[in-house]
Parts: sequence; structure tokens; C-alpha cells
Amino acid sequence: MEEIAREAGKLALSHFHSLASLPVESKGHLDLVTEADKKVEEFLIARLREVFPDDGVFGEEGGEISGSSGRIWVIDPIDGTFNFVRGSQNWAVSIGLYENRRPSFGVIHAPARDLTIVGGKTIPTQLNGKPLKALPALDMSRASTGFSFHPSVSTADRLEVIRFISDDLGISFRFCGAATISLIEVAMGETDGYVSVGDSTWDVMAALPILANLGVSHTIDWDRINLQAKLRFACGSNAFLEKVRPLLEKMAMAA
Ligand code: IPD
Ligand code: CA
Ligand code: CA
Repeated sequence: MEEIAREAGKLALSHFHSLASLPVESKGHLDLVTEADKKVEEFLIARLREVFPDDGVFGEEGGEISGSSGRIWVIDPIDGTFNFVRGSQNWAVSIGLYENRRPSFGVIHAPARDLTIVGGKTIPTQLNGKPLKALPALDMSRASTGFSFHPSVSTADRLEVIRFISDDLGISFRFCGAATISLIEVAMGETDGYVSVGDSTWDVMAALPILANLGVSHTIDWDRINLQAKLRFACGSNAFLEKVRPLLEKMAMAA
């Protein structure tokens, strides 16, 4: 799977290196899709069908194939398309496996940053081939959280998340415009957690099993979620989730 992610990353990079001639369309206000997103999704579907012909595939750009095994590969060909279009390096190919209604394995490859992270139920988490440490204990005197807002999220909701993090928790925050990169930052210990308003299942399907191996819990109730759902959730250590619970309750983000 790492090899497939790397091949997809190479294809995406070839478009990234000729951005000036890349066709870009808009799916909504500040929500972009490029020829690269479509081509990478087509490539991933073709490769996954070759290697796992019995599995289904569900992709952000409309790719949907039903399989007979019950397993579904949930893919985001380029997470962080806005960054990609603006020439920022914070974007990644994300491939997650959905099995028994739960994320069970994932690989995320961010070629412009040379980061590849992989892990799952039976596969220890590794970043660029090296094992990662479990989350450190939460220290509120130097804590930080990542967050993401889908472009459709209201200003009132955005402000409430930032107000809560700044005033009620009194901690630092990081925003990088790509859910997968924010989640890799948790895995690398750069932040203590992540708060999402409006991510989709393809944004998190790979990252959550990778993070679970490091002691990261989340508030998504997979029994009540279908693959088309828009998510509102947080992830981090149990101590971090305890701290953000009032925000989750206020914004109907708790499972
Ligand atoms: C988006 C990014 C963004 C998050 C949105 C996602 P895309 O993915 O991950 O950080 O806030 O919810 O939709 O559209 O670039 O694949
Ligand atoms: Ca995405
Ligand atoms: Ca995408």
C-alpha cells in the first residue's frame, strides 16, 4: 500500500510542478478541485482494483465501486487541494481501509514534505519507516491543538472553536489547511490533538487507525456514521478529550 501511495504521490507531484497550466474548478466557495485530484483518484482506483479485486472503493472525487469482500478503501487523492493550488507543501494522498464499519488501516503520503505514515490494527505505526512514540502526557502549560474547518462552516462556529481553545483552555493552536497533515502533526507529537468541524470520512479514514496505535482516541461514533457523513469531532489522548468535552457538547460534536 505504501508503494501505491508513493506512485500516486509521484503523479500528484508531476501536476504540482506545473501548477500554472493545471485546470482548477470550484466545488463551492473556496472549495477547489483540480485535474490532479481527478487523475490521482482514477489512478488509485485502478491500482486498488488490480491488487484487491474483491474490495470496494469510495473516493472524494466521485469514485464508488462496490466489492464483495465487505472491505472498502476510502480515499482522498489530494487532501489539502487549496494548499496544492497555492503551491504550499501541506497536502497528502490518503488511503484508509474501512472494515466492519470501522477504520482499520491507513497510509498517508505527503510527497512535497517527504512524509509517509502507515499503521493499523495489525501494523505498528511508522513514519518514513521508523516507529513513532506513544503520545506524551498532556502538559497544559505547553499544549497545542490543530483544527480544521470545512469551507462551508459558519463564522460563528469557527469563532467559537478558536474562542474556546484560547480562552477556556488557554493553549496554543496550529492550522495548516489539510486535515491529514494536522493529524500527522498529532502523530509526530507536534500537537496534542485535533478538532474538526466539517471533515469527511475520506479525510480521517487513514489517519485514525494510524493514530490509535499511539494512544489517540476520538469522539466519532462509527455505528451512527455513513461514508457520506460530514464529521464534527476531536481526537487526542483521553486527557485532551476531557478538556475539549465542553466544546464538543456545545457544538454537538460528541458521539
Ligand atoms: C479539506 C482539508 C481541510 C478541511 C476540510 C477538507 P480537501 O480537504 O482537509 O483542512 O478543513 O474539511 O475538506 O478538500 O483539500 O481534500
Ligand atoms: Ca480532504
Ligand atoms: Ca481532496
